[in-house]
Amino acid sequence: MKKTVFFFSCYLLCVAAFAQTSSPRHSIIPEPVKIAHNQGTFTLPENIVIEAPNLPALATTITLLKDRLTIPTGYKASVTTNAATAPIRLVINKTANAEIGKEGYQLTVGKDAVVISANEPGGLYYGVQSLLQLLPSEIESKAVATGVKWEIPAVEVTDYPRFGWRGLMFDVSRHFFTKQEVKDFIDNMARYKFNLLHWHLTDDEGWRIEIKSLPNLTKKGAWRTDKSGYFGTFSAPLPNEPLNYGGFYTQDDIKEVVQYAKERFVNILPEVDVPGHSLAAIVSYPELACTPGAENYRVRSGEKIMDWHGNGTFTALVDNSLCPASEKVYTFLDKVFTEVAALFPFEYIHVGGDECAKNFWEKSADVKTLMKKEGLKDMHEVQGYFEKRVGKIISSKGKKLIGWDEILEGGVAADAAVMSWRGEKGGIEAAKLKHEVVMSPTTFVYLDYMQGDPILEPRVYATLRLNKAYQFDPVPAGVDPKYIKGGQGNIWTEQIPNVRHLEYMIWPRAFAVSESVWSPREKKNWKNFTQKVEQQFKRYDVLEMKYATSMFEPIFTPKNKAGKLEIELATEVDDIDIYYSFDNSFPDRFYPKYNKPMEAPKDAVMLRVVTYRGKEQLGRVISMPVEELKKRAKIS
Ligand code: ACM
Repeated sequence: MKKTVFFFSCYLLCVAAFAQTSSPRHSIIPEPVKIAHNQGTFTLPENIVIEAPNLPALATTITLLKDRLTIPTGYKASVTTNAATAPIRLVINKTANAEIGKEGYQLTVGKDAVVISANEPGGLYYGVQSLLQLLPSEIESKAVATGVKWEIPAVEVTDYPRFGWRGLMFDVSRHFFTKQEVKDFIDNMARYKFNLLHWHLTDDEGWRIEIKSLPNLTKKGAWRTDKSGYFGTFSAPLPNEPLNYGGFYTQDDIKEVVQYAKERFVNILPEVDVPGHSLAAIVSYPELACTPGAENYRVRSGEKIMDWHGNGTFTALVDNSLCPASEKVYTFLDKVFTEVAALFPFEYIHVGGDECAKNFWEKSADVKTLMKKEGLKDMHEVQGYFEKRVGKIISSKGKKLIGWDEILEGGVAADAAVMSWRGEKGGIEAAKLKHEVVMSPTTFVYLDYMQGDPILEPRVYATLRLNKAYQFDPVPAGVDPKYIKGGQGNIWTEQIPNVRHLEYMIWPRAFAVSESVWSPREKKNWKNFTQKVEQQFKRYDVLEMKYATSMFEPIFTPKNKAGKLEIELATEVDDIDIYYSFDNSFPDRFYPKYNKPMEAPKDAVMLRVVTYRGKEQLGRVISMPVEELKKRAKIS
């Protein structure tokens, strides 16, 4: 008997161990705080009754749930406030549950009922998002999907966020995205429990927000010449080139988007990037620059306007910085921020502050006079003077200031919040100075960087693979977490010309960011995560949403072994096979399988690789010239 119990226990342990290492039992991203799996399933009835309180703040949540449960299933759903026996119930707790806080929820799926409870409507929205992720991927379908078992596994979930600031920054200046595309962006981010859209509305390449008291900003500043190729290297603008690319959001558009976001529990942080990155404003109102002749400038179409010296320093080739010595600039900014503050209910306004070129300031007699008058000893202090003046304007509008970490360099008001982007350094320093901090370091969350091998990806100046993004922890070692408000991924769009490529760049890396800002640190698990990502990809296939398959594609590590090339291949996910060819033909799973570092045959010119799991091709074929590998390994 004892022996039987012993063997049975071993069997259970083995089953449990297997369950741990085989596919995860759910595909919810971000990973919930607690999830317990029970026996059985809930089967969606053909006549679905949803009980929910009649609150305006819940209307969108209920519509989302109803649409998803009816459109792909062909079932019917009704909503009632008064049916304790309804199989699907959304409940606002009468007595607040302290564990789950403002944004948390509890979700119980049993054989006969699904109950989501929360202290506030936002929690119910997140509970619904988790519930939808427990359903088969066809739940995302825009038409009736047949042959699907509409079942939900029995679970008990208790979930709440690690951080209150869970953001994605969206640059709509470098390339313009329509109001509808911004709304879609909000829907997509809210699905993964992001709650903050940082809307980068102005830059050298376009001013995108209507300011009624300054009409040139959108009459002139929103338009540039449409060019294709590698943004940043386009030919210099000619006076006769058409200004045929651009756009802006009217104030009515902005109000509509703010309301749309609010219904999905997303705040919008508007950014007006000053004093650098201001060419579009200067083209609109040339008197904002210190430099004479700015009336001949054009909104940047992607030509080179900065010299980057490779050590973090740079000089501007045209004066794209507002003049800190001009009172006209502060009058201008007062007008801008008066209207921005009235449009956006969020408590912060982002004032930029990054990459402000100072070489034109250095030449300006007005700046020299200002320095003497104010006792400013260098250009950092000049920017510090500017930031303090801007800070006063922002607080006069009843808002708080946040800026990129450069705002620390010349001194900034004690109540300014800092967004750390040049690695974690700025955030660490700001937290030590007791500023509130949002972490968005290039090292982990710059989602405009390439995510796979540069031989395959549209060229950007740096690479950030999914597994590196997954290592993001908004609280750097040694920092008091009470100063860290949260984190966000940044999507700059110089090299993102359209919405399909935008999707490709965001997903799946934003999944990684969402787990870093929502899930407890100890709940993050790379292997589980990648398996869930694969499940999410199935949903995206149904949605016809684009995503990058880079995590399946080989990583090349060429080595110089005493002058000979040795090629090591790996992938971000394990349990997949790499097949290759050196004979110029396209490999599939009937080709040689990679199993150890190898040399290229003597005259080979091209290594082609592809990955499979069983019979299924996972990533794209990569064609890598042997010469390129030699170059990378520094073999001449
Ligand atoms: C930045 O990436 N320039 C904030």
